[in-house]
Amino acid sequence: MNSYALITGGSQGLGKAMAEELAQKQINLVLVALDSPDLYETAHQIQKKYAIDVKVLGIDLTQDNAPSQILEFIQVNDLPIRYLINNAGMGYTGRFDSFDVSFFDNLLKLNVLALTKLTHLFLPILKHNAPSYILNISSMAGLFTMPYKTVYSASKQYVYSFSRALGEELRGTGVSITALCPGGILTNEKIIADTAKIGRSAQILSSTPEYVAHFAIKAMFDKRKMYVPKFLVRLYSWMRYIIPKSIQVKMIGNSLRKKVA
Ligand SMILES: NC(=O)c1ccc[n+]([C@@H]2O[C@H](COP(=O)([O-])OP(=O)(O)OC[C@H]3O[C@@H](n4cnc5c(N)ncnc54)[C@H](OP(=O)(O)O)[C@@H]3O)[C@@H](O)[C@H]2O)c1
Repeated sequence: MNSYALITGGSQGLGKAMAEELAQKQINLVLVALDSPDLYETAHQIQKKYAIDVKVLGIDLTQDNAPSQILEFIQVNDLPIRYLINNAGMGYTGRFDSFDVSFFDNLLKLNVLALTKLTHLFLPILKHNAPSYILNISSMAGLFTMPYKTVYSASKQYVYSFSRALGEELRGTGVSITALCPGGILTNEKIIADTAKIGRSAQILSSTPEYVAHFAIKAMFDKRKMYVPKFLVRLYSWMRYIIPKSIQVKMIGNSLRKKVA
């Protein structure tokens, strides 16, 4: 079967790097992101480099009907989706009460609702095309409780917990689901500058998008239930089992308070 991978947030950052990783494996792509020049430029670059088909769909995933419009696009174009990569997401660092509530409304629609609806809508197709794969991008923030990233951290805990639970329901269906929990990904100048501001601890827990993408796609093919790329990040993530929760929250709060100030 000439299968396709659907990647949300495929125009830049980790999504773009995962698109390239899949293109190297001769997997056709459907890239979904906001309707911006970046999306068409990324598709053009990949199409030029690899002998695969790349389709694009510019759409705002915070719109209620976006997931069903994506499904319609796939059905009209008769594209056999075997890989669903829920990558689009937004984050922030700052005091909870310094943001307008509409910001959190958008964040939850993108990080939580769109991912859930897309998974639900595409499950029948993925079962039909099995063996097939879902890769949901959570974060290290989804393994901890993070002051100054309150709603982001909670949204990524949802992604992690949802993926683990659904994975168990899907046992025996031929559809696997992987939750990826990366540390910092150096996707743009602002993240690179912010990481430098927090200091060495943040720098050693960060990686390039290409590095994370390589291990994300490998974890997906290996049908890992969850995966934390980079040994030092994995080591750090084990602190959640060792340090009492109340101390963890204080430590993270103290470290991020510097950045917010
Ligand atoms: N960067 C990190 O340090 C880090 C760490 C751990 C986990 N993560 C997670 O990894 C994933 C990718 O992060 P990233 O840093 O690569 O992000 P990014 O560089 O900001 O890219 C985000 C992607 O999502 C798309 N997108 C944003 N809002 C959208 C919307 N409303 N509708 C449709 N598409 C939208 C963007 O499209 P446009 O190009 O059109 O804006 C872009 O393709 C996210 O889920 C993030 O939470 C990131």
